[in-house]
Amino acid sequence: MITLSPSILSADFANLGAHCRTVLDAGAGMLHFDVMDGHFVPNISFGVPVLASLHKALPDAFYDVHLMISDPVTYAPAFARAGASCITFHVEAVQDVPAAIRAIRDCGVQAGISIKPGTPVESVFPLLPLVDMVLVMSVEPGFGGQAFQPVAVERIAALRDACRAQGVKPHISVDGGINAETGALCAAAGADVLVAGSTVFSAADPAAAVAALCAL
Ligand code: DX5
Ligand code: ZN
Repeated sequence: MITLSPSILSADFANLGAHCRTVLDAGAGMLHFDVMDGHFVPNISFGVPVLASLHKALPDAFYDVHLMISDPVTYAPAFARAGASCITFHVEAVQDVPAAIRAIRDCGVQAGISIKPGTPVESVFPLLPLVDMVLVMSVEPGFGGQAFQPVAVERIAALRDACRAQGVKPHISVDGGINAETGALCAAAGADVLVAGSTVFSAADPAAAVAALCAL
């Protein structure tokens, strides 16, 4: 069963609430909220007040917050108070990953970890029992609309096998360049959450794009 998490980075921010409502009504199970600080990644997106506004307008949505920031532990409480459901941070950003996972859980939300394409996937195997979600980046984080890196497929399969071997079931999510073709490859390899930005929000009919991806 695939859960689609449309990345609002590609939405029209002048109509953000309406766009989010459209994709949720079309079957998206989450909203993917990309936070960039201009330091961990070379781009700046949006932050706590935008999440708080969305959560006020759409309180029942699941907010899949992806922190591409250098100091996730400091900012996690504010995102949790603003309505985050799961907070995912990059293992490359922190020194003590288990402590960061605990700090996020202490905020009362789910905790996820993400890995950039060049980070060895084996490095997160010991962390799998500790998290609700593992987010595999299939592009370098920082920008929407990039081409899918096919190596992500084998990384997802390796994570799926490691989860099975350990008897744990975190969500395996994939982010970057996801469309019907690449999404199907990732789902077959074991991903159960697909993040898609431009494929959804740049489509002529975003609701139809959501329905197509949910059906994978
Ligand atoms: C990239 C972000 C992605 C991005 C995906 O750093 O984490 O969530 O919005 O965009 P697409 O689906 O267009 O590659
Ligand atoms: Zn993302």
